[in-house]
Amino acid sequence: MQLTVDQIGSYEESGFLVLESVLSPSEVDVLLEAMVRDSGNDGPYRLMSDDSNELSTLYASHQRVGEFAELVRTPRLLCPAQTILGGDVYVYQFKINVKSAFGKEKVAWHQDYTAWKIADELPNSRLINVALLLDEATEFNGPLIFVPGSHKVGNLRENRDHSPSSAKHLDPEDIALRPQNITHLIDECGMKSVQAPVGSLVLFSPEIIHGSAPNMSPAPRRLLIATYNSCSNLPRVAEPRPSYLVGDDSTPLKPQDKEFERLDERLPVGSSK
Ligand code: SIN
Ligand code: MN
Repeated sequence: MQLTVDQIGSYEESGFLVLESVLSPSEVDVLLEAMVRDSGNDGPYRLMSDDSNELSTLYASHQRVGEFAELVRTPRLLCPAQTILGGDVYVYQFKINVKSAFGKEKVAWHQDYTAWKIADELPNSRLINVALLLDEATEFNGPLIFVPGSHKVGNLRENRDHSPSSAKHLDPEDIALRPQNITHLIDECGMKSVQAPVGSLVLFSPEIIHGSAPNMSPAPRRLLIATYNSCSNLPRVAEPRPSYLVGDDSTPLKPQDKEFERLDERLPVGSSK
C-alpha cells in the first residue's frame, strides 16, 4: 500500500487525502463487532454522551483488542503514515467517535496540534491522522469538514479553555477557533466535506482546520482515527496524560499484513459451524 507521487503531492497541498474503500465492508463489520465488545466495558477511556448515555468516544481500543492492535499495523494504514512522516512511527492516539442517529454532537473548528502542543508539549507537528470510515460518510451524517490548505497557516490558537466536558480528554470545544481568526481563511480556501464509502481512509494533517456538523441521519456515524506520531517527536510534558489518551509506547511499529475476517468465514467450506 504505497502512496503515489500525486497522492503525496495532493496531501501536502491540501492537508488531507481520501483513499476510497481501502477496507471492505465485511472487514469493517468485523471491526464494528470488536468495537461493540470493547465498548461493553466501563473505563475512563469510554466517554458517554451527557444526554442519551450512548457511547460518544472510545479511546485506545488498540491497547485492549486484538483486531485494533492489528489494524494499526496493517500496511494499508501504517505505510501511508510512514511515507508521509518519512520514518518510524507509533500510535500517539486512537479513538472511535460516535455521532448517534439524529444526535446533536458537533465538533467545533479546531487544529489538533494546538491540543497536543499545549497538553503534551509535543515539540513539532510530525504526526498524521488516519481516519477510517466505519460508516459511509454522507452530506447528512456529520462528515469531516476541512478548510483545504489551512495546515500551512500555522497554529491559530495558543491557549485552551477548561470546560467540564474536558474532564477525561481535551474536548475540541476547548481549542475552538474563533470566527475572527478563520473567517478570512474560509472565504479564501473554502470548505470541503468528505463523502466516501464505508472502509475509506481519510489522511489529514494535525494542523489542518477541521470540524463536523451534527448527524441528521437515522443511523449512527462511527469514525475511527488512528493518529501516528514520528518516533523522534516525543512529548516533553513532565506529567504525561493517561496512556489511553496519549500512547506511551513509542516502539516503532512494523507492518503486519492482515485481512479482517469473521471466525465463521475462516472455516473451510463444508465444515459444520
Ligand atoms: C476530530 O476532530 O477529532 C473528530 C471529528 C469528528 O469526529 O467528526
Ligand atoms: Mn480533530
